[in-house]
Amino acid sequence: MGSGRLAKQEWEQTDMTRTNLVILLGLLMALGVAAIGGLWRSNGTPGAQTSSGTALIGGAFELVDHTGKAVTDQTYRGRFMLVYFGFTYCPDVCPTELQNIAVALDTIGERRRKHLVPLFVTIDPERDTRELMATYVDNFHPDLVGLTGSLEQIKKMASVYRVYFKKVKEKDQPDGYTMDHSALVFLMDDKGEYVRHFSYGTDGAKMAKGLTKAIDKRFPQ
Ligand code: NI
Repeated sequence: MGSGRLAKQEWEQTDMTRTNLVILLGLLMALGVAAIGGLWRSNGTPGAQTSSGTALIGGAFELVDHTGKAVTDQTYRGRFMLVYFGFTYCPDVCPTELQNIAVALDTIGERRRKHLVPLFVTIDPERDTRELMATYVDNFHPDLVGLTGSLEQIKKMASVYRVYFKKVKEKDQPDGYTMDHSALVFLMDDKGEYVRHFSYGTDGAKMAKGLTKAIDKRFPQ
């Protein structure tokens, strides 16, 4: 009798555990479905403006170029955009990258350059005025366009390009600060859609090959 009672208790306990397991599994499945649903929705957002398989990089911006002209992403439609974010006080990363871009531009030749606009976007608009941008881009290449704007406008463009930047206090630097920033070079096509990026330190010759391939595919000779 004692053993029978024990057996019943055991059975009840097991049954309880099973019930809990069923509830737990049900909850997990519901969560899983919700998660998948969430992913599907975030990828299927109509405003994302990407063709299938295209990375979610790029989008609208409103800035001022180094000649003082108000520009948007639409200004450059019909041409590829080579987009690099940096700042004129950058001690070495930006000058190196802009030099690589200049070499690439010279290498691809005039015909391809007509289909491409290289953009240098400051992430330090506080110091990088239009005038300073004009002097700076002139050091690298005549095609290079410098873009600046309000901090809000810069933040907006950096966010659509998934570019990180941050002001960092540093005593030795002018005005007591420097900027941390991503140093990728983005290639966007003539419709403003992401094609590829070049990682920091990609030399001019290699970048030129990548540009040639993309431009010739869209604008054959
Ligand atoms: Ni830099």
